[in-house]
Amino acid sequence: MSERTQVAIVGAGPAGLLLGALLHRHGLESVILEARSREYIEARIRAGVLEQGTVDVLREVGVGERMDREGLVHSGIYLRFDGSSHHIPMSELTGGRSVMIYGQTEIVKDLVAHRLQTGMPLRFECHAVTVDRLSSDQPVVRYSQGGTDHELECNIIAGCDGFHGVCRGAIPADVLHVWEREYPFAWLGILADVGPSTDELIYAQHEQGFALHSMRSLKVSRLYIQVEPDDDIANWSDQRVWDQLHARLASEGWELNEGPVLEKSITPMRSFVAEPMRYGSLFLAGDAAHIVPPTGAKGLNLAVADVTMLGEGLVEYFGSGSDAGLQEYSDRCLRRVWRAQHFSWFMTTMLHTNPRDDDYGRRLQRSQLDYVCSSQAAAASLAENYVGLPLTRASATALGNG
Ligand code: APR
Ligand code: PHB
Repeated sequence: MSERTQVAIVGAGPAGLLLGALLHRHGLESVILEARSREYIEARIRAGVLEQGTVDVLREVGVGERMDREGLVHSGIYLRFDGSSHHIPMSELTGGRSVMIYGQTEIVKDLVAHRLQTGMPLRFECHAVTVDRLSSDQPVVRYSQGGTDHELECNIIAGCDGFHGVCRGAIPADVLHVWEREYPFAWLGILADVGPSTDELIYAQHEQGFALHSMRSLKVSRLYIQVEPDDDIANWSDQRVWDQLHARLASEGWELNEGPVLEKSITPMRSFVAEPMRYGSLFLAGDAAHIVPPTGAKGLNLAVADVTMLGEGLVEYFGSGSDAGLQEYSDRCLRRVWRAQHFSWFMTTMLHTNPRDDDYGRRLQRSQLDYVCSSQAAAASLAENYVGLPLTRASATALGNG
């Protein structure tokens, strides 16, 4: 079976689905191929902090309605250590910018519903996906679905197939450069059927390990604790998780409300970047090209920034034939990717207990926390990165060139 489209999108995570919506809005055709089932991708629990820019793009493509109704706008975060809380008033420090708390799972549901409504192709359970003829302007994606082999010819392939996808591996090894760091810890996350015990997120540094109190709504809390990198979820009864949350989040006069645990899982932490993000007619976006540890809440937002820039380049390419936007795609994305890499590493090292650290390292960590909580300039830098820097062109290098 053979068919043709303008853009073949591999992967229906937030990156692939949003790119499909952006292209459709500009009258461009795409086919989205996803390895898993609809039920599977709509049930996966992932992150939930959206930068202002992410919120704007979702509204622009017409999937912002439920987010605007159910999402929670937050204008600050708390850093907690030594039993005291320090508020970082992000909006005040960034000229009024804020973040939206709305689960990635909900965004995926909204984008899938939107795609099906537009009638544009979204194919689930596609197996044995391969990409080929990448050096030509007529690349092809081959896959099998329901026992039938398919060939999808196109002009451009968007590799939005996540960290474990096939697209990144199709770039020749002598072209692809990879930077990677593994951390000596992981996050155990729970989703709990209980209203949050805080109005804004609490990031806690504690000698027994990092803890985070986040939320999905005014009725559902999302909480995390730092665990060993190879820890087994079977070691963690619900009560053991709550006990650690109580210990690490403890603060005078503050109480943590417990509730039934709806989901519990362990996520490894790594930093990863693949360069370049383009090879011929293949463009990588989102987790396919880069991973950040979740402490800075940047993973989803980076994926959205990538496809926003890719969408702009493709609209220009199919509209006027100019490939200027596509030419600068990789460099433009990577500037933002490396900023997010640094910020995520910074938040991670400032807040986690590193078993390999010495006393000197622990003193540095404490000094950094004190600085962020006592200097307006340091807090403003954290806030600016957390709410998200504006998208810039690759040529903007100096302050004021935005
Ligand atoms: N063929 C088709 N689809 C594939 C293949 C393949 N060979 N391999 C993986 N996929 C699918 C996955 O099943 C998944 O649905 O690609 C999708 C990739 O989605 P995500 O992993 O969610 O990645 P991305 O869309 O880049 O989203 C960015 O931000 O919060 C972070 O890591 C979090 O997923 C999040 C990411
Ligand atoms: C989440 O709510 O899942 C979450 C929030 C903040 C983070 C990471 C994850 O930094």
